[in-house]
Amino acid sequence: MVADQAATTATGRHDYGALMARAKEEAERLVDLSNRGARVLVVTHIDADGLSSGSVAFSALARKNLAVSVRAIPDLDPRAIEKLKADKFEFYLFTDLGSGLLGELSAALGDKFLVVDHHQVPEADLAHARLFNAWNYGYDGGEEACSSSMAYSFAKALDAKGNQDLSALSLVGASGDRQDKGDARSLGGLNKVAVEDAVTQGLVTTTKDLLFYGRETRPVHEAIAMSYSPFIAGLSGAKDAALAALSNSGFKLKEGGRWRTLSELSNEEKQKVIEVISGFIASAGHGADLLKDLVGTIYTFEFEDPLTPLRDAREFGSLLNACGRMDRTDLGISICLGDREDALRQALALMSEYRGKLNKAIQKLQLETDKVSTTGNVMMVMGEEFIEERMTGSVSSLLASSDRFRDKLVLVRAKSGDSDLKFSSRIGDSYPGKVNLGEVMREAAQSVGGVGGGHSMAAGAKIPFSKRDDFTKAVLEKVAAG
Ligand code: C5P
Repeated sequence: MVADQAATTATGRHDYGALMARAKEEAERLVDLSNRGARVLVVTHIDADGLSSGSVAFSALARKNLAVSVRAIPDLDPRAIEKLKADKFEFYLFTDLGSGLLGELSAALGDKFLVVDHHQVPEADLAHARLFNAWNYGYDGGEEACSSSMAYSFAKALDAKGNQDLSALSLVGASGDRQDKGDARSLGGLNKVAVEDAVTQGLVTTTKDLLFYGRETRPVHEAIAMSYSPFIAGLSGAKDAALAALSNSGFKLKEGGRWRTLSELSNEEKQKVIEVISGFIASAGHGADLLKDLVGTIYTFEFEDPLTPLRDAREFGSLLNACGRMDRTDLGISICLGDREDALRQALALMSEYRGKLNKAIQKLQLETDKVSTTGNVMMVMGEEFIEERMTGSVSSLLASSDRFRDKLVLVRAKSGDSDLKFSSRIGDSYPGKVNLGEVMREAAQSVGGVGGGHSMAAGAKIPFSKRDDFTKAVLEKVAAG
């Protein structure tokens, strides 16, 4: 059973003091180890929060002159742990992964590791000595604390003043993990501490506006077409259709021969944009929910070039995500560490390739309906033949944000190696029931000899291919039982 984590947060008892005291304790331990010559490896996950939290931890340790390296991996499993152990580092700092495998980590690494994380863990594991997890301090790790804001707390414990600039990366990780669930899609909880630090430092400004990709830099129709969250069928990924829809509505797209951007529009014109979009989602039934998601709090990094996606925390997160999903975590980490030349150029090219892949997968789904099955509120995509393992999270997130499936629990599966299946699951914002997906995936995977876990709204699992039907049955039963 997972600890009564919801109750902890419902009381509003965030224990920031205890969290920082623990961070300080662990920071001192690490510095002490390193003074005795220890080499440290930061091991992190490949998604946006993984790359930014790994970079925060790496930067903070490197600034203290520790002998530190950073590595991103798609999954931590017993095989991956053995590989890490074989590299013989004296200490391993895990960010954004590891909470589900504390027993295995202890068995392999003794006490020479620390897991800095925000994923849910079974009650029995919460007190594990090598776990530094947001849930232990009253923060809901699904929406109030990401790995990056946990790593930032650790960085502040190492050097409160010197590491305040790393607050900006916490906002990137939190946006990448879609933790913008506060009023007007703002960041709350521990993430808000990072926002406040970043604002105080003059690193970030906050405004409220339409949340499309490239709102300051792209023509309006391109910004709409390049936005995949929420996914709007007929517009997302369809530049020509967006252009046609806006032109047909009499929208003034150009000024003196130059394309206008969303940030230049008047309030009435922004309203018009929403009206045009609503024409594409009117038939879906959850249109009002989706339209609400189009407006919210924008976090702008004042020190970044306005012409790059790094200027906006969400866009920065999308770029990192693309790097991770396209197997170029090196580029993502380089960008987090400050490379604005070659790594950024390559990442921008990768981003278009990544979008192309996502588009192709979505088109395939629309054409080949036998690849999708729906049982009650659960829809499953059998992506073995056309979705790569690293892309399952992106496809499931996209589907769960779409008007068509935002009332569904989405499961996307793909082949993993020769004998395993990878599952990514997401709950759409308009899902009518109550399910703790992290718990469902962990227990269902365990029941067939696999590994699973995550958050209440987003979770994953890896299981033996031969057990796919037993696994699906276990998931459906657990979802039906609530
Ligand atoms: O892989 P995917 O993107 O679907 O994972 C969704 C969330 O579940 C991520 O936060 C991931 O770290 C987490 N997860 C986990 N344990 C697993 C698989 C995924 O905590 N075994």
